[in-house]
Amino acid sequence: METIFSGIQPSGIPTIGNYIGAMKQFIELQNSYNCYFCIVDEHAITVPQDPLKLRQQTRGLAALYLAVGLDPEKATIFIQSEVSAHAEAAWIIQCNTTIGELERMTQFKDKSQKNGRTGVSAGLLTYPPLMVGDIVLYNANLVPVGDDQKQHLELTRDFVERFNKRYGQANQEILVLPEVKIAEQGGRVMSLQDPTSKMSKSDSNAKGFISMLEEPNIIRKKIKSAVTDSTGIIEYDPENKPGISNLLNIFSASTGRPVDELVEAYAGKGYGDFKSDLAEAVVDLLTPIQERYHALLASDELDDILDKGAEQARLVANKTLQRMKNAIGLGRKPRKRT
Ligand code: AQP
Repeated sequence: METIFSGIQPSGIPTIGNYIGAMKQFIELQNSYNCYFCIVDEHAITVPQDPLKLRQQTRGLAALYLAVGLDPEKATIFIQSEVSAHAEAAWIIQCNTTIGELERMTQFKDKSQKNGRTGVSAGLLTYPPLMVGDIVLYNANLVPVGDDQKQHLELTRDFVERFNKRYGQANQEILVLPEVKIAEQGGRVMSLQDPTSKMSKSDSNAKGFISMLEEPNIIRKKIKSAVTDSTGIIEYDPENKPGISNLLNIFSASTGRPVDELVEAYAGKGYGDFKSDLAEAVVDLLTPIQERYHALLASDELDDILDKGAEQARLVANKTLQRMKNAIGLGRKPRKRT
């Protein structure tokens, strides 16, 4: 069975963008792959976080993983900072990655341009190697992510090829070369207020995103106020009509109805009818998830699952880390046991 790794940062409450671009794929894939799904809390601290909130969001994200349908019998679910191999591998990877490669990463460019280089942490520049480590430690063949993570996956592949070439023995690869898997539809859900920017859980404009724990009336209000255009015609044209095209994608991903079918069903109807049906579809999608989430959060079961997940993850991650250390000559040669 091939292996999958993916993670989400507990940098806020996940949005329907995180659900459609990432979690929805996880649920489908857990039946046919050996899966590791991580709550990547070490990534979240690249920007300032309130410690209490970070803790809550970390456990909350684990509860959401289970509430959407991830099964701990099929997938290993764990918290990144509880497996120390991630931070150790990240150091080795940083030392085998150039500053030039990291400065080219869009997330660093965007955030450092907005806040200035003295206004962002060094971690914002060096976290892509942490992400590379997340993936390689579990020998992942496939990484299901949203469209925005493509660049990080390219960095991962470049690193693996370079590392294997530099340190591998003939015909013996140290690390597995992963492939990226972007959702066929919904790989990039856009902001409701600015449909040319990605929907993000840390957007300062809360009207731009729908969190997975949003109350039904807030969902209705946010969808009602979503930016569209003045034509009033429901058609799929992301370039010229990004607002309504984004809403069509969200509608389709929430109900499983193809975009073409929705366009046909709403021909001649106005944006008002479309938006109120879309709001009900999103409420219907999120209500049962939210009910399961609240029950899990109050249970010990959640912590038992996370303890077991960290234990399982450590076994695999430590083995890969040792392989990396041996390859580059860190520490002493392992002694043969008699
Ligand atoms: N808008 C989106 N559409 C589709 N997929 C998305 N993802 C994120 N936003 C969208 C996918 O969700 C997974 C986890 O993302 P993350 O939390 O690790 O980081 P991110 O991509 O930076 O997500 P956010 O919501 O934008 O977080 P903040 O605001 O903290 O930066 C990834 O697979 C991502 O592609």
